[in-house]
Amino acid sequence: MGSCVRNAPICRPPRPTRRRPQQCAAADPSRNGGAPVPGILTQAAIDDPALRAAYLHCRRTVRRDDPVEYSIMQLMPPLLRPACWAMWAAFSAADDLADAPAGTTATRTAQLKAWTTALEDELTAGHSDDPVRRALIDTMHRWRLDLADLRLSFATLDGDTRGRHLHTWEQWSVWVGDSNLSWATQSMTLLARAGIPVPVWLRRKDSYQRYLDGLYLTDTLTDLAQDLARGELNLPTQVLDQFPDAADHLTARHWSPAAGALIAHLTGQARRWLDQPGLTSTLHPGPAELLSTATRLFHARLDAVQAAGPALLSRPAVPAPFVRWRILARARTRGALAWRLTPLSATPHGSSPGYALPRQTRPPSKFQPPAPHPSGARPPTIPASRMPRHVAVIMDGNGRWATQRGLPRHEGHRAGAEGATRDVICGAAEIGLAHLTLYAFSTENWKRDTEEIAFLFESIRNQLRTYANDKEELGIRIRWAGSAVGLPQDLIEELLQAELRTRHRTGLCVTVCINYGGRDELTRAAAQLARAAAAGDIDPDHVSDTDLARHLTWPDTPDVDLLWRTGGEQRISNFLLWQAAYAELHFTDTNWPDIDRRDLWQAITEYSVRQRRHGAAPAADSSKDGTVAHRACH
Ligand code: IPE
Ligand code: IPE
Ligand code: MG
Repeated sequence: MGSCVRNAPICRPPRPTRRRPQQCAAADPSRNGGAPVPGILTQAAIDDPALRAAYLHCRRTVRRDDPVEYSIMQLMPPLLRPACWAMWAAFSAADDLADAPAGTTATRTAQLKAWTTALEDELTAGHSDDPVRRALIDTMHRWRLDLADLRLSFATLDGDTRGRHLHTWEQWSVWVGDSNLSWATQSMTLLARAGIPVPVWLRRKDSYQRYLDGLYLTDTLTDLAQDLARGELNLPTQVLDQFPDAADHLTARHWSPAAGALIAHLTGQARRWLDQPGLTSTLHPGPAELLSTATRLFHARLDAVQAAGPALLSRPAVPAPFVRWRILARARTRGALAWRLTPLSATPHGSSPGYALPRQTRPPSKFQPPAPHPSGARPPTIPASRMPRHVAVIMDGNGRWATQRGLPRHEGHRAGAEGATRDVICGAAEIGLAHLTLYAFSTENWKRDTEEIAFLFESIRNQLRTYANDKEELGIRIRWAGSAVGLPQDLIEELLQAELRTRHRTGLCVTVCINYGGRDELTRAAAQLARAAAAGDIDPDHVSDTDLARHLTWPDTPDVDLLWRTGGEQRISNFLLWQAAYAELHFTDTNWPDIDRRDLWQAITEYSVRQRRHGAAPAADSSKDGTVAHRACH
């Protein structure tokens, strides 16, 4: 049942408000956002008349087509608004091409491709005659934004033109995240570039992802009539199966008890996702006001969905103008006050031509095993029960490797990153390891000279780009552990983006420890426990080790089974103090740049015959040939 709908191609992401507005714009207090538009452009140092016209074109488009989003953008500091208009207008332009009612799948795909290719070319040239792309190119340069997020959205839109089947809420969430990520991420980046402290944990929070899901689900419900008119129902099979016949009735535009029950269920779901307790509690008041206003507006949209009943099948559900007016009037006053409390500390870069971004040359392809080692070596066969789940590596000896060759230390870092790290990651994927954690920069490494540190960060950036953007086929997920304090903002952004872009991958999970210290991680976990105790959420007399572990950066990661240090030193150097409590230690003399995947395989092979007891007495039946019983361990 409902199969015709569920097998129908799902062609566009449910993203906030792409319907043509029916709101009473005149009653909208955000229409002018409190400052005259030419003044905003001047304040943002957008002086070139053609460029001003391009930004105004974007603003008109957003205000006309997406008034709710426009209202929310008007709560951004005036200096940042033109960038918001340009980014949204660009995203909408691409979405409209992917969604064009006229034409075939092939023509839609071709048109989208032509638009995105033109954008890539024009980014290199630094100029476009198309007003939306012109404003976007300027924005990307002014605020040093990365095209990678938009590329991900474009690639997802492109996939959507060919049809897509979503079965679970999890798949749905990844899909909406990929197609909408650019907007949410770029807005955060923009605030950070302007010096507004948006804490790095926000985007990693499950509650934030759920909140975004709530926004998108609300949008799907609001725009149901439009989607149904195109023969689409952008919902996963998982939920449709719970309401037999509802999907068929909705696509036939027939309001039935089943359809009503499905809509009521989804409305409740969206409300629960929107209400994420504590999401804004420690945020700067500006972003906090933005998020809570969006929540209120989207709840008002859900009220309209509930009130619409059968009318939902024929027109978008729109809250009454005075409802929006009330929400926005209050938000504007509070938002303006919030931004006044913390003035922006960074200004845009200024416009200049010749802004080039590397081209994306390789389209994402299917999950594949990595290329084999040049020697032709294959991984050893390790019984599953003997495989470590988590190997952590202190990649040491880069400096000595370089010094021994009369080279500057940074050449050792380059050789280590480009040779050993890459190869060991391939080897870990090839042997089927689940978790590989790499120590790349410790909280103590700040003692090194600034040039060496800058080089290390640059090489980390290059590695991230390789794995997050170009190696989709290996299925490698990237995560970061460490403190944001002191790290360059653009590196933090890249780390978070790499996490977001690879979060759906199910192969090897590589955690890079950057500005990481075991003591720092434990201190922060202890502080969180103390906060919870002070708030009365936990009883200090009953704190267990699992309570503390819950506050580590990645609490779901299994303990380290094997801790390997290269370069001849035999110490832990503040690495994974909690997680490595029962790790098997493995020290090798070779400096990191001379390491390759075969050394990892050797380490794993040695690990696989070790006896792990975790405090238990040795097993009585150790076999005579040197292998041992593994009662307490594997
Ligand atoms: C490890 O190599 C890399 C980092 C600590 C970032 P080193 O730079 O510590 O190399 P050695 O120990 O000085 O040879
Ligand atoms: C540990 O290496 C940190 C990393 C590999 C990132 P170090 O070279 O900094 O450690 P120590 O100073 O020799 O203990
Ligand atoms: Mg060292």
